[in-house]
Amino acid sequence: DLSVSWLGMQMASPLFNASGVHCRTKEELEQLRRSAAGAVVTKSCTLAPRAGNPEPRYRRTALGSINSMGLPNEGYRYYLDYAQAYDDAKPLFLSISGMTLEDTLTILAELATLKLPCLPEVNLSCPNLPGKPQLGYDFAASAEALAAISRVYAQPFGVKLPPYFDPVHFAAMAAVLNGFPLLRFVTCINSVGNGLVIDLDSEAAVIKPKGGLGGLGGDYVLPTALANVREFAVLLADKHVIGCGGVKSGAEAFMHILAGATAVQVGTCLHEEGVSAFDRIEEELAAIMQAKGYQRLEEFRGRLKTL
Ligand code: DHB
Repeated sequence: DLSVSWLGMQMASPLFNASGVHCRTKEELEQLRRSAAGAVVTKSCTLAPRAGNPEPRYRRTALGSINSMGLPNEGYRYYLDYAQAYDDAKPLFLSISGMTLEDTLTILAELATLKLPCLPEVNLSCPNLPGKPQLGYDFAASAEALAAISRVYAQPFGVKLPPYFDPVHFAAMAAVLNGFPLLRFVTCINSVGNGLVIDLDSEAAVIKPKGGLGGLGGDYVLPTALANVREFAVLLADKHVIGCGGVKSGAEAFMHILAGATAVQVGTCLHEEGVSAFDRIEEELAAIMQAKGYQRLEEFRGRLKTL
């Protein structure tokens, strides 16, 4: 039994897509809805539609992926439309990433007036907009943004966080997040920002935007993702942590849950494999649980052993 209940939602499986992957168009979102995924999250939206950065802007590598998509999306009304028509027990999340805080507040204020069957995941961590820092790396600015969000959107919401790399930063961000009771979940992690993948033969970067810098996903990021899930699961005692980063089989999904994740998102692997990845990973997770004698996710969630 892979089911999970949280925030009044029921998921048949803990696995769903990472925002950005296979979720830009209604066609892709419908494929997710009909798949073995336990939930659906939309591509991060902005006020106006965007074409995104110049191509090539995504590359698979031996150890994962690098991307600098630049927020290509159909504009928030398209996703609100999708949510308005959505009629399924499978939970739906709306990822929001305004070009400015004002834009994010505009989108949330409109969402607040509608009674839509979706929960916002506010993105504090897009690394791919030239000239724009990741909000999640500025603790004071994050606190101000969350205060403003809580004023316009007096309902449960979540945030997508960037990876942190120092215990001082985990504690500082956790202190900020714990100040907002309506913040009910955090998704850890977004891509490890601004890596550089170089092709040896051509002596060139493999993606075009930002001189080749882009967000890393896949095998590169699994230990960083697990550390962020673990630390925030401990530090945010009454919030949910959604794990994201390096999940390509049942093993990594199990590790995220062991670290404390309520549910687990799949990015690079979903991009490479398509929605059948959910069937495979769920089978593998169920097999691992059976071999270990676990019947339900609660029996091992957060029960990481330390030495
Ligand atoms: C994009 C990448 C991200 O990691 C993110 O959080 C939002 C948008 C992008 O490049 O489109």
